[in-house]
Order: sequence, then C-alpha cells, then structure tokens
Amino acid sequence: MSFNSINDTIIHQLECIVGKEYVLFDEGAFEKYGKDETEDLLFYPEVIVIPITPQEIATILKLCNELNVPLTPRGAGTGLSGGALPVNKGVLLSMERFNEILDIDERNLQATVEPGVITQVFQEAVQEKGLFYPPDPASKGSCFIGGNLAENSGGPKAVKYGVTNDYVLNLEVVLPTGEIIWTGANTLKNSTGYNLTQLMVGSEGTLGIITKAVFRLIPYPQYDLLMLVPFYSAEEACEAVSSIFRAGITPSGMEFMERDALIWGSEYLGDESLEIPENIQAHLLIEVDGNNKEVLYSDCEIIYKVLENFNCDEVLFAEDAAQKDRLWKIRRVVGEAVKAKSIYKEEDTVVPRAELPILLRGVKEIGNKYGFQSVCYGHAGDGNLHINIIKGDMSNDDWNNKLSDGIRKIFELCIKLKGTISGEHGIGYVQKEYMNIPFSNTELDLQKNIKRLFDPKGILNPNKMF
Ligand code: LAC
Ligand code: ZN
Repeated sequence: MSFNSINDTIIHQLECIVGKEYVLFDEGAFEKYGKDETEDLLFYPEVIVIPITPQEIATILKLCNELNVPLTPRGAGTGLSGGALPVNKGVLLSMERFNEILDIDERNLQATVEPGVITQVFQEAVQEKGLFYPPDPASKGSCFIGGNLAENSGGPKAVKYGVTNDYVLNLEVVLPTGEIIWTGANTLKNSTGYNLTQLMVGSEGTLGIITKAVFRLIPYPQYDLLMLVPFYSAEEACEAVSSIFRAGITPSGMEFMERDALIWGSEYLGDESLEIPENIQAHLLIEVDGNNKEVLYSDCEIIYKVLENFNCDEVLFAEDAAQKDRLWKIRRVVGEAVKAKSIYKEEDTVVPRAELPILLRGVKEIGNKYGFQSVCYGHAGDGNLHINIIKGDMSNDDWNNKLSDGIRKIFELCIKLKGTISGEHGIGYVQKEYMNIPFSNTELDLQKNIKRLFDPKGILNPNKMF
C-alpha cells in the first residue's frame, strides 16, 4: 500500500470542512491521539480531524479516497488491540463530537445513539427509564459506543445478556466513497438480504464509519446478588464454571481471577478489604440477577450445592450495594492494574466454556516452556480468558523475538479446542499476524474481498485485521 502524505492544501481543505479549531496538528495532539490502551504503542498521525456530522465525515472520506490518504477512525482510545492507532499516518478521525443520545423510544424499547457517547452514560440514560443496555466492557466509564461496535465488545454481563452485536438493529454508515447508508431496519427481526448490520459490527473501522446506531433495549432487572468464591486450584475454579451452568443457572456475571489478578486489582485501588489466604489460587465472582428475590436466593443455593463438589474456601456473599460495587471495581480494574505493574501483553482467548480448564492448563504449560509468567482473568462463563503475559525478568531478546512463538502455541490450542483468538478485544494491529491460525487462505481471502468491496483503495484503517 502506498499512500500520499498530508500537505498544506489538504489541511486547508479539512479546515474548510470542519472548521479550523477542529483540525489539529501539534505535538500534544499527536501524542494524545497517537495511542490507545494497547501496551505502550504510539503512532503519530499527520493530522487529527474532529467532525460533528455524517455529512462532514462523508466529505472527509471522499477527499481521502480521491487523494489516496489513509484515515483511521477513533473512539475514546480504550482499545486493546491497537485498532485506533494511525499506523500508516494520514488522518486520524476522532468521533468525540458525536456524543448525543438522539432518541430513547420507550414504546419500542429502542434507542438511537451517536457513536461518541460513553457506554456508561448511555446505560445510565436508559436505566432512568427502567431500561437496560447490558454490554459493559471494563472501560464502560470511558469507552465509546462506537468503539464497542467496532470491536463487538462484551464485558461481564455478556454471559447472560450477550455482547454488543446482540443489541444492534440498524446502523448509519459513511462509506469511503462518501455515500451514507443504513444497514438494516429498526426491527427485532429481519430476513431481508445480507446482514450488513452484523457485518459492520466488529469490522474495526475497516469498512465504513458508523455515525448512528439503533439498539434494542430490555427491561432493567431489579435485583442482583453477588458472591466471591475462593478456590485452592485455579483449574478447579474453571471446572466449576461449566458445572454451574449445567445445574440450570445462567448467572449475570461469572468472572474468573487468578490470585495475582485479584491482589493487583485490590492494590491498584488501595482496597484492603479482601484477605486472601496463601493457599488460594483463584476466585470466581458470580452474580445472579432478575426481578424476583426469592428466585435469586434459590439460584444461589443451587450454586452453593454445585460448589460443594469442589475444593473451595468460604464464600464471600456481598452484603450491600457498596460491597458489590467494591468487588466489581476490583474486577474491572485488573487490566489497568496489570498495565501499571509490568510490561505485558494481553491476549483475549476464547473457547467453549467447558474447555476452559484445558486452556488454562495449556497456557501455564506453554508459559513454562517458553519462559513466561502469566496472570489470567476474564469472563469465564463465556470461556473468554484474558491472558496477561508478564515480562517480569524475561530478557528483551526473549520478549521481542521468542514470545510470539509462545503466543502462537496458545492460539493454536484455542483453535484445537474449537475456540478462537479474540473474544472481545478484536484483532486490530497487534493480533493480525496470527489471523492465519483461525482462518485458511480461502477464508481469509473472502474477508479481504469484502474489505476491497467496501474500500477498494484500502484507505480506511489500513494495516488492521489482515
Ligand atoms: C476486562 C477487559 C480487559 O475484561 O476486557 O477487564
Ligand atoms: Zn474483558
């Protein structure tokens, strides 16, 4: 791919489209918009453009397409696979001014949202009307709906309620040609043609720019109960997960944390409320929710019964909202805590739920062989294990040159277990070298041809996914 660079004429054209104050090209802006939450990667764009209407985006895309200038869309920059990094320079298109909740349709239990709305802001707005938008990535307090759409984000609630794509009905999208389309209809059913809506979700900004999204919503569940279960063996904690589902319970949260994940999360928050005995290797954080308290207590009794078959220590049952909040905070902050602790790489593996113990064991064995430590945590109920590989005292040579072989082995194990290499963080920039593990050439070519159809010149978020 050979692209053209930004010059003064292009800058001037961009300024005419969005106004001078929304075209940035100073060092501070490059620094801010050149990174996301993926490791410590930094790529300067040549210019940052901050539009406010789909029509402005259409004009910008048309211009870039004609001039062969790469354009990278960006939400809040909380991504973990480098999807928003402007690796080929060019234009960085920030969606931060698309921050309106356009409509909450209480008659139909739907909402229309711009992509720059913060996920939690959207959740709270619909909750005020008794409605629930469940997808809740750990970064929900800062990530944008648009980024969630781009990566098909999940989060702890996904285990019961599904991920972002399960709530999307219809999308407004600007294509690289500057044309503006709607992908579907605002209906709960749709068997009309190819499903372009679902094609856009998880396409990581490589096919078009989403400018509006219509979501379905559900009634907000009134009650929840939360428990933290300590296990003497991490593998056994993983085994307990599928047993609980097989006992007929679908928890609204089923999170796994290895010992260090919980300790580092607590330390990072300065929260000393948990005492973790020496011999505890992992915890499950289990939540049930619904509208009938009695049912929830009886669900917990069933869970307790299942747990009797495993070697676990005393269960901590959250007593009040404040304690629940503390426990969830610790869980949500684990990713950040690891980042603060060491140079690391995070993998987002996913396997069918009952294969989780085999995956965990495999990760540790591969780590022993390739000389790396890992701290694992994640959405165990979804079989979605976040593997944080810690640099620790590994040499730079091993870290830079040998580690990717070890990661490859982990991914091969995922495929062998009928899983895949990313559950919710996406492929973006950092995982693309591994795409030949889940996909054959034929399968990859199909995907690349779809990309070509939408974006023949490859200007849109180049160097991502493939
Ligand atoms: C989490 C993010 C890293 O689950 O996906 O904390
Ligand atoms: Zn996660």
